[in-house]
Amino acid sequence: MFYLCTPIFIPNLVGKETIYTLAIESSCDDTSAAVLCNKKVLSNVVATQKIHEAYGGVVPELASRAHQQNIIPVVHQALMSANIDKKQLSAIAFTQGPGLMGSLLVGTSFSKSLAMGLQLPLIAVNHMQAHILAHFIEDENTTAPPFPFLAMTISGGHTQIVLVKDYFDMEILGETLDDAVGEAFDKSAKILGLPYPGGPLIDKYAKLGNPTAFSFSKPKVDGLNFSFSGLKTGILYFVQREVKKNPNFIAENLNDICASIQHTIVAILMDKLKKAVKQTQVSHIAIGGGVSANSGIRTALTNASKTHGWSTYIPKFEYCTDNAAMIGIVGYLKHQKGLFSDQNITAKARYAIENKKNTN
Ligand code: KG4
Ligand code: ZN
Repeated sequence: MFYLCTPIFIPNLVGKETIYTLAIESSCDDTSAAVLCNKKVLSNVVATQKIHEAYGGVVPELASRAHQQNIIPVVHQALMSANIDKKQLSAIAFTQGPGLMGSLLVGTSFSKSLAMGLQLPLIAVNHMQAHILAHFIEDENTTAPPFPFLAMTISGGHTQIVLVKDYFDMEILGETLDDAVGEAFDKSAKILGLPYPGGPLIDKYAKLGNPTAFSFSKPKVDGLNFSFSGLKTGILYFVQREVKKNPNFIAENLNDICASIQHTIVAILMDKLKKAVKQTQVSHIAIGGGVSANSGIRTALTNASKTHGWSTYIPKFEYCTDNAAMIGIVGYLKHQKGLFSDQNITAKARYAIENKKNTN
C-alpha cells in the first residue's frame, strides 16, 4: 500500500543554496523514500509490508525480501511525486541503523550503489535520531523545539527519554530494560486476538471504551528507565482468567480492555516524563516514533502542557511512524555540517544515538 504526501512547490528555494536530498528508510517493515528540498518535504512515499499481519509480528527474512521488491518502485514514486529528476539531487541519505540487519542491508546497498552511480555524496543516518529530528522538518503547521529539549522516543523497537542539547549532541537519560512500548501495545493486541501491528487497533477500540474499567499494575522501575514485560504478562494472566469464567469475555469487553491497557501505558510514559522534567528542569517536550501516533499519549501531552506549563511538540501523523522524510531532514542537517560517509560504510543493527563523542 502506498501513502503519498502532496508535493509542495517552493519557488523561493530555487537557487544555489538549494539542497535536494533523496532519503531511503528500510530499517524494519516499511520501505520508504522521500525527497526534501532543504528542510521541506516534497514527497514521502511509504510501502507498508502487509505480509507480516498473518504472523503476529515482523518476520525478518520476509521483510528483507519485500524491501528488495519495493525499493525501486518506492524511490521512483518519490522522485515522480516530488517532480525531481535524479540529476537534480544533491545527496543520498539512508538509514544505517539500528534495525533488522537484512532490512537495513537492502537500503544501505541500494543507497551506496545509487550514490556511486550518480556520483553523489552519501549520508548515513541513525534511525532513532531521525525520529527525534523529524521535528525540524519545515511545515506550516508545526514549530521546532528549541535546544535543550527532552525527546521521548516511543516505537516498536525503542523506548527512550533523551536530553537533546543540539542536533548531534544527545544524551539518553533512560530507556526500556526489556520490551519497547510499541511491543507492549502489539503483544497485548495479540493476546486479544488482534492482527499485527496491534497498536493502532488498541488505539481505535480504546476511543470507544472506559479507561478505568480494568486496572493493571504498573512496573516499579527506578529512575527514568522503563519496563513493559511485566505488564504484558499481567494482561495475559488477566485475560486467561476472565476467559475461563466467560469464553466471550474479550468480544464483550474489547473496547474497555483496550481503553484500560492504553490508559495504563500512557500513565507509565507520563510518570517518567514528569520525573525527567523534574530532574533536568527542561520543560520543552517532544515525542517521536510510531507510538506517538497514539491518541491517548497525544491527548495526555496536550493536557500536560496546560497543567504543568510544558511546551509540547507532537509530530505530524505521517512523521510519527517509520518514514523516509525524517531520514531526509537528518541528511540535510548532516549535509550542512559536511558529515558525509564513504563507500566503506556498512549497516549497523545496533547503533547508539550520536553525541558529541561519537559523531563521525
Ligand atoms: O516507529 P515505528 O513505525 O517503527 C519502529 O521503529 O519500531 O513504530 C511502530 C510501532 C508499532 O509497535 C505500532 O504498533 C506502534 O508503533 N503504533 C501505535 C500506533 N501507531 C503505531 N501504537 C499505539 N497507538 C497507535 N496509534
Ligand atoms: Zn521507527
